[in-house]
Amino acid sequence: MSQPPTRLVVLVSGAGSNLQALIDAAADPGYGAQVVAVGADRDGIEGLARAERAGIETFALRVSDHESRAEWDAALAERVASYRPDLVVLAGFMKLVGDDFLAAFGGRTVNTHPALSPSFPGMHGPRDALAYGVKVTGATLFVVDAGVDTGAIVAQTVVPVEDADTVETLHERIKVAERAMLVDTVGRMAREGFVVDERRVRLGG
Ligand code: GAR
Repeated sequence: MSQPPTRLVVLVSGAGSNLQALIDAAADPGYGAQVVAVGADRDGIEGLARAERAGIETFALRVSDHESRAEWDAALAERVASYRPDLVVLAGFMKLVGDDFLAAFGGRTVNTHPALSPSFPGMHGPRDALAYGVKVTGATLFVVDAGVDTGAIVAQTVVPVEDADTVETLHERIKVAERAMLVDTVGRMAREGFVVDERRVRLGG
């Protein structure tokens, strides 16, 4: 008997092109995962619209609507838990999750970052890589921990930095590679399982 698809909750803050790649991949039952809900930390973004067009449940929880950052984090954890995800994917989610979220979903939340960790953590991976003058950069999929882009690495993909690049052209090249990496790796995590052994992540149980 085949396994039920892995339940994904995806969190976004913006355009949602990584989310779209997952939605498109999950349309194939052989992919092994389905997006059961999409959440955001703000309203009115294309990421939520993409989910709505695909008939996926959405929610938005803004930090400013909560008494404190910790209360927002607890509300986020509770809302995500209501969808019973096997795996949570942060895909361009521009907030750090906190203690309550990690207590519920630590070890099964992945984030995609537009740089080759451990270089250039934070909100401006493409800008920082360009400013540093590296000749290659890329994207990193990692298991979220309490740090900023510090978690154990699941996959990385590399792109060249071209002389004529701007932050925008470089980020766009990264995003093409990033989407392919995300779809491929999340699918493998769903179908084959994964083990997190301190800093080493092994796909395939
Ligand atoms: C992606 O490149 C993702 O790695 C980045 O935002 C972009 C979202 O694009 N995330 C971060 O920088 C998080 N620190 P998308 O909304 O089109 O998927």
